[in-house]
Amino acid sequence: MSSVKTFYIIQTRIKKTCKKIPFFVEKEQKAGDGLKQIDKDSKQLWHVYLWTLSFLKPYKGKVILVMMSGFIITLSELIIPKFIQYFIETILPSRDFSKMNGLLLGLTGLITFGIILTAARNLWQRKLIEQASRDSQFAAFQQIRQLGFSYYEQHSVSETLSFVNTQTRAVQEIYRRYFPQFINQTLFIAISLYFMIQISILLTLIIIPSFILYYIFGPWLEKKATVYGRQSAEGFRTLQTKLYESLASMEELRILGYMNWDMKRIQKLHEQVRQDHEKNVFFAYLRGSNRRLTYYIGALATFGVGIYLVKNGQLTTGGFVAYILYYFSAMHMLTSIVTLLTEQRILTFQIEPLYHFMKKTPDIREPQQPILLEQVKGDIVFHDIDFHYPNHPPLLKGMNLHIRRGEKVALVGTSGGGKTSFLKLIGRFYDPASGVITIDGIDLRRLPTSQIRAAMGFVFQETFLFNMSVKDNIRFGDTSLTDQQLVEAAKKADCDSFIRELEHGYDTILGERGLKLSGGQKQKIAIARLFAKNPSIVLLDEATASLDSVSEQKVQQALHQTFKESTVIAIAHRLSTVRHFDRIIFIKDGCILEAGHFNELMRKKGHFYQLASDRSEKEAGVT
Ligand SMILES: Nc1ncnc2c1ncn2[C@@H]1O[C@H](COP(=O)(O)OP(=O)(O)OP(=O)(O)O)[C@@H](O)[C@H]1O
Ligand SMILES: [Mg+2]
Repeated sequence: MSSVKTFYIIQTRIKKTCKKIPFFVEKEQKAGDGLKQIDKDSKQLWHVYLWTLSFLKPYKGKVILVMMSGFIITLSELIIPKFIQYFIETILPSRDFSKMNGLLLGLTGLITFGIILTAARNLWQRKLIEQASRDSQFAAFQQIRQLGFSYYEQHSVSETLSFVNTQTRAVQEIYRRYFPQFINQTLFIAISLYFMIQISILLTLIIIPSFILYYIFGPWLEKKATVYGRQSAEGFRTLQTKLYESLASMEELRILGYMNWDMKRIQKLHEQVRQDHEKNVFFAYLRGSNRRLTYYIGALATFGVGIYLVKNGQLTTGGFVAYILYYFSAMHMLTSIVTLLTEQRILTFQIEPLYHFMKKTPDIREPQQPILLEQVKGDIVFHDIDFHYPNHPPLLKGMNLHIRRGEKVALVGTSGGGKTSFLKLIGRFYDPASGVITIDGIDLRRLPTSQIRAAMGFVFQETFLFNMSVKDNIRFGDTSLTDQQLVEAAKKADCDSFIRELEHGYDTILGERGLKLSGGQKQKIAIARLFAKNPSIVLLDEATASLDSVSEQKVQQALHQTFKESTVIAIAHRLSTVRHFDRIIFIKDGCILEAGHFNELMRKKGHFYQLASDRSEKEAGVT
């Protein structure tokens, strides 16, 4: 492939990813739209927040325990101003200090109890948080599995990685920091307010006008800070996705010399995030100043009216001192709670895509009343199948085909004709738009997916190897497979000799994505996997395309010998491999144009003959 073409592909891929990310769309909107959007989104955000908290539901008992302890702890902390009030009002005038010992003892006991309970509460809280965090991460993984193949084909891996990493971390941050703090601080304010009202209703009412002042500028500043907070959160998300993508394509970028181009893109994004973050901090600071203004005006009013009340004997000095203590600590908490809520809101923005992702219903649903076959034999029928990819034009049109148990069928045809899609339908990676596919006479949609997957063996053109030993890559979770069976499978796939040459033989750990092996070697491991599984339906998508012709012949022979009983459907590019198949099916533009044995089709001099003649010019001596 020319480097210009590769460059174009990388660029289009990145553009496509970016389009899916709201940050880029957002940039095209006018600044004023942001504020309107915030109002509209508030309801939605609330749902996201509630969903986040729903992971705490299974631990209701523990949540109540933590909250009750929080209540007792706060009460024990807030009793101190009351103690001061009592000291000033009762002990000082009477100078009867004998009562002090008992009181001090009681206070010491209370504080000690508070400290012990705090330690216990923190432990319970931590455990609860860890459980909910684990559940949220598992739920995301579970959802990724459920959505399956079709989801991966429509979304980039970097986007999904962002869900699992950044966004679930944001969910966890809400449990770890924000939610517990929010509860504790709300309790603190509520109890302080209760004591304040108890001391003087009038003084408490005095604070209200100062809050009206806050609301003149407060909401506007709040929204501004939120708009930029959201933009910087989204920009950060985009940056993360871009970084993942950059890492994934590092090799291509380096080889093709596009490192600077990539670096510039990242720097540009970084700069945008920085600017939005600065604006967010600026408005957050103004908002803080506005709040502090309210706080001090309230304090001045409280002092003025409080002193007047003390002078007129409507309030005791002790009560006034205790009130002031409650006022300042409650206001301090209120300031912190507002900051907390704003930060929480920004986090909720970050979580929003994860929320939508989690609410997605899988395209492929497990049957409500599954039919479990005793044994899958491998008789496959396509009845009038129409199929298209989501939001794409029709691909397979009225396809009818019966592949008998044990039959060896080769699919050939023009590129983009629908061969791979045909295999995906048999594996139930997608459901057809209309028509029915049956296996052993049963609608594929009635069979449990686990049975379908267990009965089938796939080898795709692109092979994914896990970062584990060669042995485990072939075994693939099948613990019943003996070492001898494993080696036999490898021999059939013509990879035993090269595996033995590896540093630790079968125990060699293959690098991430099997980077230490060549394309052909990786494909051989995938074929060994197939031999080890010995499925009743074998689906091969140009499975030997990366092998040299000697290896290919060996492997093809082994495939024919081993899978005598199994149904084999193979997409073949090299026509040399299709001679021995029972039937060759020629697919073009989603339709079967020809079907028959090699010799029959060659005699017919139709589409297959044409294809064979075209390719024979390239593959000398093939036909
Ligand atoms: N996940 C997908 N989403 C949307 N369209 C897709 C998807 N996968 C394939 N297509 C489109 O469906 C058509 C058939 O693709 P398919 O991969 O089945 O062809 P093919 O016959 O296997 O081609 P090739 O020989 O090049 O592998 C193509 O036009 C392709 O662009
Ligand atoms: Mg294909």
